[in-house]
Amino acid sequence: MAKKKKSSEVTDRRLAGLVTLLMENATIVVSGERIAREIGVSRSTVWRWVTRLRELGVKVKGRAATGYFLEAMADILTPELLRRGLRGTMFGKRIYHFFRADSTNSVALALGHTGEEEGAVVVAEEQTAGRGRAGRAWHSERGTGIYVTILLRPKLAPVQAPLLTMMAGISARTAVAAITGLPVDLKWPNDLMIAGKKLGGILTEMHAEPTAVKFVIVGMGLNVNQEKFPAELAGAATSLRAETGRNYSRLEILVRLLREFESDYNRLLREGVAGVVKRFEEVSSYARGKKVRVETGTETFTGMTAGLTAEGLLLVERAAGDIFTVIAGDVTELK
Ligand code: BTN
Repeated sequence: MAKKKKSSEVTDRRLAGLVTLLMENATIVVSGERIAREIGVSRSTVWRWVTRLRELGVKVKGRAATGYFLEAMADILTPELLRRGLRGTMFGKRIYHFFRADSTNSVALALGHTGEEEGAVVVAEEQTAGRGRAGRAWHSERGTGIYVTILLRPKLAPVQAPLLTMMAGISARTAVAAITGLPVDLKWPNDLMIAGKKLGGILTEMHAEPTAVKFVIVGMGLNVNQEKFPAELAGAATSLRAETGRNYSRLEILVRLLREFESDYNRLLREGVAGVVKRFEEVSSYARGKKVRVETGTETFTGMTAGLTAEGLLLVERAAGDIFTVIAGDVTELK
């Protein structure tokens, strides 16, 4: 069990507690004195925390003398609200919320190594070193996307663990479709796509012994309310807001996503990985009959996708007629 908490984590928990208090009193000015009393700190600490929240982008108005209130209802993924939404699930118990983290995957990896339980959730409002596949960075603008990592200790063989990436894609697709009605496509192995642009990605990392998984962390990044992206991503990335012109509650989406994940995960453990491969093939337009370019790191070629193997690897039929099994690589659609 991870007993000792890092001080940043403790502070984030308290800051989130302050946001919750202000949210629960959204229409009134809450005096610094009352906040101090309810949270059990001094008034000067309250003032320091309010200053910190403002630095982190939470719109707290007011002054120490008059009291504080939230200018706008904050869409903050506070542990309290998440816990409420996730009550009764495996994800409702151990929630680590950060206003700013380097990478939720890095935090979850460290938690995994110190014995944290299955079901722990690490979520950040912003990542300063968000990680994507193949050593790429994951753009993690504050308060607009969902940056979450969950810790699992599944009884799976190490070769089966990558299937969790595909499963997470299916769960995210279901959650987004349920809330927005948007048709999300899945690009093998880990991309959520809308109209050829990337809506989200999944980075699964594991710690394993030769025959058994010790723990797996599944990190998911979902673009929700981003209005625009840096120039280098603009042509390739999209968000739910960019697709529909409206903002969505990150809390609602995250809760739905984790609930879908739990049900898909239990099914996988019960019925095995074959169901995941089958469902991925059904919902991904990339799995079969798509003209693609594949970059594996050692070679680049073009071909037509031809389904998945029983282990979830992508088959690509090349011009010469041979079928190549892609174990890892980047797949790009060719128009
Ligand atoms: C990819 O498509 O390359 C995978 C992107 C995964 C991004 C998420 S955001 C939350 C978690 N923390 C990270 O540092 N990465 C994953």
